[in-house]
Amino acid sequence: MAKTQHQFVCQECGAWYSKWNGKCETCGAWNSMVEEAITQHESVRHRKKDLTTFFSTLENSDNDSPLDRSRVLTHITEFDRVCGGGLVPGSVILVGGDPGIGKSTLLLQVVAELSKNSICAYVSGEEALTQLRLRAERLRVNKAAVHMAASTQLHDILEALKNLADLKLAIIDSIQTMSVSTIESAAGTVSQVRACTQELIAAAKKQGYVVILVGHVTKEGVIAGPRVLEHMVDTVLYFEGERNYDYRILRSVKNRFGATDEIGVFAMGDQGLTEVSNPSELFLANHQNEVSGTAIFAGIEGTRPILLEIQALVAPSYLASPRRTAVGWDSNRLSMILAVLEARCGLSFGNRDIYLNVAGGLKITEPAADLAVAAALISALKNKPVPNSSIYFGEIGLTGEVRPVSHSELRLKEAEKLGFTQAYCATISSRKGTIKGSVNTHILKYVLELI
Ligand SMILES: Nc1ncnc2c1ncn2[C@@H]1O[C@H](COP(=O)(O)OP(=O)(O)O)[C@@H](O)[C@H]1O
Ligand SMILES: [Mg+2]
Ligand SMILES: [Zn+2]
Repeated sequence: MAKTQHQFVCQECGAWYSKWNGKCETCGAWNSMVEEAITQHESVRHRKKDLTTFFSTLENSDNDSPLDRSRVLTHITEFDRVCGGGLVPGSVILVGGDPGIGKSTLLLQVVAELSKNSICAYVSGEEALTQLRLRAERLRVNKAAVHMAASTQLHDILEALKNLADLKLAIIDSIQTMSVSTIESAAGTVSQVRACTQELIAAAKKQGYVVILVGHVTKEGVIAGPRVLEHMVDTVLYFEGERNYDYRILRSVKNRFGATDEIGVFAMGDQGLTEVSNPSELFLANHQNEVSGTAIFAGIEGTRPILLEIQALVAPSYLASPRRTAVGWDSNRLSMILAVLEARCGLSFGNRDIYLNVAGGLKITEPAADLAVAAALISALKNKPVPNSSIYFGEIGLTGEVRPVSHSELRLKEAEKLGFTQAYCATISSRKGTIKGSVNTHILKYVLELI
């Protein structure tokens, strides 16, 4: 027997309360509570069961389905790579991103490509079939053999998916529009999102198809509904980009079957998304040599090297406390590097405003960018361009030492590929320290050596 109870659920964190409160005690959010009907199943009586086959071994068993070991390739290379080298049958992937960023476009292209040799379905709760067809025409995929549907009733959808023999991939756009009739609350509430996701996960595991869920992102930049959604699924991808640029980045933030922090780069055009196989070229397209205050950072995103331009501007300040602004880079880290340059290199940034920008709107989190940031700052302060055709990488410590970073070889190779000839970096900790190639490496021990 199941009994239904009404409870108040925080839509931010998913905590349950018996009474309404203005503020959630668990996460501190205000006005986040919505009354929802929760169905609780009475605890199952303890029964005597045969548990002799409860445990098994790690070795492969003849009962394993051969599917379990082969990944499904969509042949959209950037997408496959971000997923960890293809899709794992029976897994559930959540794709989050701002409205209008291109989630539906991306997934329609993915499903169209995969449907060339596999059975695929795309169910939209957001758009009508006519709208979907118009988009497909614009993306020139309207001839693809995708099973399209517009519905928000999850139980209907699951039933229909069950009838598609040999289904490989089902897209649900978006999870916030789906609902099950067993729960009273509206679509998009925590209970609905949670229940729908649970049923989709169970169906995917049971029938061995991949489910991709689209998730909306709130103003705060997290996937709407509770964080639990991210815990439930196998893989979480974010699709991001700046409004003013036409490139988009697909980033993996959680992956049970692959590396995280992997990125895929796409360019958005009238005919949809095209893959950008050499992102460095894109990000350096507007780079000018011989301008002071810029330095090229050889970074790593996931498993891939990427060259980015760091720009710094140092200007006299008329403010009591001068401005320190960083775009695309952590401002605490900027303060630290400024302090090191002042204390260890005798430079003075005292009464100057400082702006730091990663060109192209990308965000860098790698400490390896410290050296490039320092080079751009010094160049801006001295109003002298950095040496021509040079790249920088290395972490800076508080004593002013330049510390080695991972993947030096990859970084140098990318620099070489794009025609750079000088590299300023920390000791290279790779095998034997010998790097073949035409890039002339200047190994720095202290950041002072940059000046
Ligand atoms: N007719 C069009 N021509 C060119 N680009 C379009 C057109 N319609 C939509 N787009 C692009 O597609 C984007 C919307 O993508 P969509 O996949 O619907 O986003 P999401 O599903 O993330 O909300 C728009 O922001 C725009 O860049
Ligand atoms: Mg959409
Ligand atoms: Zn809460």
